[in-house]
Amino acid sequence: MKTTLHTTPPSQLETECLVVPVLDVAAENNNGDKSDKHKPQIQSDDKAVLEAAADLIAAGEVTGKMLEIALLHKPSGLKAKRLMLIGGGKAKNFSSYELRKLAGAAVRNLKAKDLKSFAFVAPSSWMGQADPASQSTLAFQRGGMGDAVKSIVEGAFVGNFDPDYYKSDRKEQKIDEMVIVAPAAANQKALQSAMEQGGIIGEAQNFTRDLVNEPSNRMTPTILAERAKKMCDETGLKCEIYGGDKIKELKMGAFWSVSQGSDEEPRLIVMRHEPAGAPEKPVLGLVGKGITFDSGGISIKPADGMEKMKYDMAGGAAMIGAMRAIAQLKPNLRVIGIVCASENMPSGKAQKPGDVQIAMSGKSIEIINTDAEGRLVLADGLHYARQLGCTHLIDAATLTGACVVALGMVNAGIFANDEDFYERFSKSLQKSGEKMWRLPVDEEYRDMIKSNIADIVNSGGRWGGAVTAAMFLKEFVGDTPWLHLDIAGVAWMEENKPWIAKGPSGIAVRSLVEFVRDLAAAPLSKN
Ligand code: BES
Ligand code: MN
Ligand code: ZN
Repeated sequence: MKTTLHTTPPSQLETECLVVPVLDVAAENNNGDKSDKHKPQIQSDDKAVLEAAADLIAAGEVTGKMLEIALLHKPSGLKAKRLMLIGGGKAKNFSSYELRKLAGAAVRNLKAKDLKSFAFVAPSSWMGQADPASQSTLAFQRGGMGDAVKSIVEGAFVGNFDPDYYKSDRKEQKIDEMVIVAPAAANQKALQSAMEQGGIIGEAQNFTRDLVNEPSNRMTPTILAERAKKMCDETGLKCEIYGGDKIKELKMGAFWSVSQGSDEEPRLIVMRHEPAGAPEKPVLGLVGKGITFDSGGISIKPADGMEKMKYDMAGGAAMIGAMRAIAQLKPNLRVIGIVCASENMPSGKAQKPGDVQIAMSGKSIEIINTDAEGRLVLADGLHYARQLGCTHLIDAATLTGACVVALGMVNAGIFANDEDFYERFSKSLQKSGEKMWRLPVDEEYRDMIKSNIADIVNSGGRWGGAVTAAMFLKEFVGDTPWLHLDIAGVAWMEENKPWIAKGPSGIAVRSLVEFVRDLAAAPLSKN
């Protein structure tokens, strides 16, 4: 999708459809009347737009309610062929989180009508400095015009993606061109750069969704590695791919134990962003779980829903997508992306419950359940990242069903062993509009992964399953500041939403990219 920035007054813009957000500004209440009065406020200063919308508002057909859509053909006084008013909900809660959804919903609504281009008006109330007072009550960022433009572009890219690749009657319904209309008074250079950044980040998220969407017969560890390599070659990242022999040679006994049952060879993918002038430290390691199919192994999963386990490489795909955006945005920071790609299959060669494996770090692991494979591949991935010199670690994995039980499909789980590192990351979450909720890694949980015959077991049993999985990973990060993102519940959208298609979500890409840019701009207090 091509994106361009315009300062033409919205009414003068020739376009297939002019999209304007409408907010619900709570009506003044003078007489103590508690009735719920709506006062829709069109987010444009253009008088002709306000006039064109006046009848819809007078008729009560436009209230500003979140994602309410009204479409007017041949709006009088406008050069646009159509005017779409799209509700953004209560003005005081309106942040970049909502704005992305509006842009995504506009794209999805218009492309379903076979439109190929449109214009989106950046909300006029965001002009000028972000209001810190109103910001403090918001979970997500509401910056100035630059923030608006970036969020609109990100949301539009996300909305423009559909995963129905293998339908023989797939309709190529896509928006090819979007114009973003911003006030002439805003700093155009800053907006232009915000628009480009939004495009890079939105494309990276869709790149990840594309990888996650592929079924496991078309996305083996080998193919995933080839796709990563191709991306690295195109963007100028260094890339190394290792196979089973090297994994054994590195003594990655935990990683290899998962792969040994499969006819597909595993791949260890290493992608490096090492800008010439970047400081020696920190070095951020992004480690992703890349299980291209999780059958459970000998502890085999029930047939019902097993087809979904093609998305068990979503954490790895998020790291590949994030590295793509990092390569293009060029933050001055060293970042190493590592993906442990494997199938988890039952066979005569597969590992069995009761087996003991020695991880690369030397720790011995008693395998209780071969379906707890993600933590095994990550154990060696995290240790290897430290060996390569990473001073800070983030892993992303569709790790536990227990995390889905705890947080449902709204928030990812986030675990941290370092407060400063966590605090910095949560700032990036506010910018990215991705939802993650912190869960504990207290020492008291350590008892739950004790083994009779080895250092640890790979399954802590029924209770607190997301936490014991994180405790397992913690064994392999030592004192390195580390964040673990359990994205099992949010990597796949179970339903179509107005702003995003059912299927892979591309979660974590935006937060990781924001975080890397933030770290490059302002170093951590301690390295
Ligand atoms: N890939 C699964 C976790 C998962 C579940 C991802 C649902 C996405 C949706 C993981 O490898 C797994 O099987 N975990 C087990 C661990 C258990 C055996 C300790 C689980 O959560 O049941
Ligand atoms: Mn599993
Ligand atoms: Zn798994």
